[in-house]
Amino acid sequence: MGRFDGKVAIVTGAGSGIGRATAIRLAREGARVAMVDTSESGLVESENLMPEGAEYARYLVNVADEAQVKELVSGTIRAFGKIDVLCNIAGISSTGKGHPRVTDNEREEWEKVLAVNLIGTMLLIKHVAPHMQARKLGSIVNTASVAGIRSGAGGNAYSASKAGVINLTMTAACDLGDHNIRVNAVCPGLVETGMTKAVFDYARANEKAHKLGNRCELRRYGDPEEIAAAILFFASDDASYVTGQALPVDGGNTASLNLPGMKV
Ligand SMILES: NC(=O)c1ccc[n+]([C@@H]2O[C@H](COP(=O)([O-])OP(=O)(O)OC[C@H]3O[C@@H](n4cnc5c(N)ncnc54)[C@H](O)[C@@H]3O)[C@@H](O)[C@H]2O)c1
Repeated sequence: MGRFDGKVAIVTGAGSGIGRATAIRLAREGARVAMVDTSESGLVESENLMPEGAEYARYLVNVADEAQVKELVSGTIRAFGKIDVLCNIAGISSTGKGHPRVTDNEREEWEKVLAVNLIGTMLLIKHVAPHMQARKLGSIVNTASVAGIRSGAGGNAYSASKAGVINLTMTAACDLGDHNIRVNAVCPGLVETGMTKAVFDYARANEKAHKLGNRCELRRYGDPEEIAAAILFFASDDASYVTGQALPVDGGNTASLNLPGMKV
């Protein structure tokens, strides 16, 4: 018996990193999975890693595009008949311009980052929740970040988008609670994925790999599977009395005033 036997889950960002780990683990635990991404090659790679016998479908969808999101939701209902779980994991960091100071912000950059990370999350909730409301059942898990709790991880557009995701998690939980729909968020710390590849590549090429994750109390960075484990907890009935919460899954990073120079 798997925790998700008979359940249907939509997972955005399923073509890489944390989304891929989540889709695979959901399938392993019995769910039928709608895997969503803008990267076809990423989705195909994820598909190749799905457990034998898993039931899934691939959807090439930009979460920031409302028409595509609507079509995804009706396509999932057509394919699987219902939606029990929504995992909003798709996200982008800044677009390669480093981390500008607040006075150097460009509106275009903010619009791009907020469109995917915050508005994309909102659009999925907007179009999936009515199907859950009709059945008075559902669990939604959003992906924020430690960057949404503190500054200094990612650019300020990214941080603001993730702070927005934390607040959207609370407001959606309040709006949907009386329909027995739970809404929670995970706030990952540093995890090796496509998004952080440049950071890891740079550190390894410059003999700084030992520094990766050393500001965390556990003194290491995380694996995508460790974030997926927390996402599955929220998504499952194990969290049946938990809603509106944002859980750091960060090796203790946000638990301390671990400032540069304070730890050796
Ligand atoms: N890796 C980390 O250290 C870290 C830390 C905190 C939070 N996060 C968050 O975790 C989530 C997953 O990121 P990851 O680290 O696995 O990165 P990743 O780049 O490996 O995966 C993100 C996936 O989202 C997809 N995507 C991007 N824009 C999309 C869009 N508009 N529509 C649909 N799909 C889109 C990408 O193609 C990619 O496959 C993100 O929300 C990210 O902000 C990551």
